[in-house]
Amino acid sequence: MKTELLPASPEAIRKAGELLKGGSLCAIPTETVYGLAANALDACAVAKIFEAKGRPQDNPLIVHISAMDQLSRVCASVSDAALTLADRFWPGPLTMLLPKADAVPAVVTAGLPSVGVRMPSHEAARAVIDAAGVPLAAPSANASGRPSPTEASHVLEDMDGKIPLIVDGGACTFGVESTVVDMTGPVPRILRPGAITLEMIEEALGAAETDAGVSRALRDGEVARSPGMKYRHYAPHAPVVCFEGAPEDTANAIRAAWRPGDRVLSFFEYWDLPNAYSYAESCDPEGVGRGLFAALRSFDGEEVKRILAQCPRPVGRGAASANRLRRAAAFDCVACTEGVVLGVTGRTGSGKSAFAGEAMRAGYAVLDADAIYKTLLQTDQNLLHALRARFPAAFAAGVLDRRALAQIVFSDERARLKLNAMTHPAVCAEVKRRMAELRAAGKTHLVLDVPLLFESGLDRLCTVTVALFTERSASAARVAARDNIAAEAAHARLNAQPDDAFYLSHCDIPLKNSGSPAQFQAEAQRLLARL
Ligand code: TXA
Ligand code: MG
Repeated sequence: MKTELLPASPEAIRKAGELLKGGSLCAIPTETVYGLAANALDACAVAKIFEAKGRPQDNPLIVHISAMDQLSRVCASVSDAALTLADRFWPGPLTMLLPKADAVPAVVTAGLPSVGVRMPSHEAARAVIDAAGVPLAAPSANASGRPSPTEASHVLEDMDGKIPLIVDGGACTFGVESTVVDMTGPVPRILRPGAITLEMIEEALGAAETDAGVSRALRDGEVARSPGMKYRHYAPHAPVVCFEGAPEDTANAIRAAWRPGDRVLSFFEYWDLPNAYSYAESCDPEGVGRGLFAALRSFDGEEVKRILAQCPRPVGRGAASANRLRRAAAFDCVACTEGVVLGVTGRTGSGKSAFAGEAMRAGYAVLDADAIYKTLLQTDQNLLHALRARFPAAFAAGVLDRRALAQIVFSDERARLKLNAMTHPAVCAEVKRRMAELRAAGKTHLVLDVPLLFESGLDRLCTVTVALFTERSASAARVAARDNIAAEAAHARLNAQPDDAFYLSHCDIPLKNSGSPAQFQAEAQRLLARL
């Protein structure tokens, strides 16, 4: 069979619709990964998917719809909780397991009573569903066991000669597959993490949990809640070893473990690891998701003994990519950081100190980067010397006036960057020294309270990063009261700090601090208990 690869034009979409109506397969782009689609209501068409992929018969498929009225064609019933999630996250990267309708052939669900359903947000995917006029069953369009395809060329690698058409919609936005959440039990349970996180589902429904099978290999005799959990997945040809923990620690462990013939899968910051392929910054969970599978695939064209990989932080927005990498490694994982290092950040007045207080109650030792900074400005002679040379106006009679320094850099971006370039290394070194002290004293659970967590690079010492969010007006009121300054001055200070989007795109777990103090305490305790 000749495989045609066409850009996602109206003509290509019409052609895809015709092929699917006629019982053939077609690869389509989605916002997560490319899917290999067939008419979900046609058992013969669906059987071809298993053949083309070499997929085990007991691994069920996800059914894709383009509008809510199609849901009743594939599900026997839809709970209120499911409707809430659909309302909040569809179209988008969320698959819900719901009771299956009789019209869905058993081959789709591998004989299970539930069916996985999702409404993709990718325009071309929805257009193809509409053109076919039926819901589409579509697993990822890779050969079974290989990394999922995030570009049309990856599909061609695996499916050339096996299917008539690949619709090319460019690179996928997310790059990891949808979140799979089982909605048939009392509490929504995540069977596969994705871009819709545990915390997002929890916020929408009040409660949610992650299945134990997500983060470890199945034990002997244990039944997989999702058949996909059983199989080696996402794997390049060479064996993968997954190094887990703070990026700085995984980098050091990889340096020590590396032998000739090994390749390293690293974050951008660690591009200088031996024989490294770097694909995203460690503080960019979305970038990691987008690039992970392409990175794994890239090793297959080379002679590689082992792939030593830095694992993304397996929590919050990093959970999906960490899960895929752990599976690619068949759970051959090396723990590189002892205990928990939680970095907490956010604008001034967002509640970092309140969070640190809760962490202390939960047994964490807290390091306050601001306090360390202030101490260094009094005691670190090398730093003071450098500051005097660069900011002479901030010194009166040879003594640093911290307020004067703050005033100078407040309205001058270049001066601020210069100051940070001088102070960040000093603060980082001191934080590391104190972390070592705390660990020597037996403390395994640490909190780093750092306003400039990502800017300073201190996030690289963390096993989880949390960003706190408040309405600007609430923060301003808090800052004005706390520091005894006018509301206008508080606003000006806040406006000089990054916006929500900055924290949101960099952190693992965003935490809202917009309710009552008691609510915030409860949320903080819940988050800490889970680590
Ligand atoms: O993002 C995605 O979900 C992509 C795109 C193409 O939509 N699709 C995808 O499908 O990742 P696939 O087949 O590669 O993964 C589906 C996963 C498997 O782990 C399967 O075991 C699980 O969902 N699954 C599907 N239906 C299920 C069911 N009824 N019960 C339990 N697990 C189910
Ligand atoms: Mg798959």
